Amino acid sequence: MDKLIEKIILRRNTVIIKQFFDLVEFIFCKIVRFCNLENKLLGFFQIFTNGKLISAFRRKKYTILKNRSNSKIINEVNNNSFCFLGKLGKDEIETGKNYFLNQKKIYNSHVPYFFKKNKSEKEDKINIDDFLKNKDSNYGSFDIKTSVECPILKNISLKYKFNEIAEEYLISNKANVFSINTMLTKSSNSSHDVFKLHRDIDSINSLAFFIYWTSTSQENGSTSLLPGSHIYNFDRKFGKIYSPNLSLKHIEGEEGSIYALDTWSYHRGNEKLKNPRLATWIRYSSFPSRIYYMDRNYLFKNDLENFNSQETS
Ligand SMILES: [Fe+2]
Repeated sequence: MDKLIEKIILRRNTVIIKQFFDLVEFIFCKIVRFCNLENKLLGFFQIFTNGKLISAFRRKKYTILKNRSNSKIINEVNNNSFCFLGKLGKDEIETGKNYFLNQKKIYNSHVPYFFKKNKSEKEDKINIDDFLKNKDSNYGSFDIKTSVECPILKNISLKYKFNEIAEEYLISNKANVFSINTMLTKSSNSSHDVFKLHRDIDSINSLAFFIYWTSTSQENGSTSLLPGSHIYNFDRKFGKIYSPNLSLKHIEGEEGSIYALDTWSYHRGNEKLKNPRLATWIRYSSFPSRIYYMDRNYLFKNDLENFNSQETS
């Protein structure tokens, strides 16, 4: 079933199938404001969205939260697309950072098993030292199992109430982690699409948390975003024509800083890097996520279930 859904997503924009999905998406965009936030049909169809439905759903949810939430964190994410949650202690930082940096191997890509890189077989890992020396490498990543086995990650998610925050922001009692990606980024001769302004097509109802294991700044690897842009209209060309202005906010932070972020806001990675940057992104959704299939996160179903069960215990 997972592979079938992956195949349909990959063929979403082929002739006839595209017309079918575009029509269904058009109908859902018209009726989404009348739909229950947990509607199962909507939940299934949105896996195949091109983005329009995400914008329609985000706007609906924004209005509901604006009128009902008393939480400072939820209001900040709802208004500004992100919120600072706190900073880890020195021991926690060292434990997490050393755990990842002491791994001998790393995937030489933004996300392990990235479908465009290798459609049939899993990609080989390379030595971290070789990754750091390779002038053309920019993003390295660890798979979900490696992140889940980090001795401190579950504790951090519990301590900073990731699940509770996600469920309140998503107005749902079943927010699940569908992706955990720990990335090591370094300066490079090559560029990457994530350095361009873009939105992540996670699901219509999603929220991400990230931990900066290393210090970041505007001149050193900080992600930037347009605050509040998670409720902008769907516009496929916006990221292409946009050039940075004063509205672009850099999410800077000392090592150990933790943020919540709505990744349907326009954001981008930062190719300016003085030192390698290590960061973990943990993503929650109340619905199945297209990225879960496209990045083949289902290969780590058990690890994700393990992480999710720890969250709710
Ligand atoms: Fe992104």
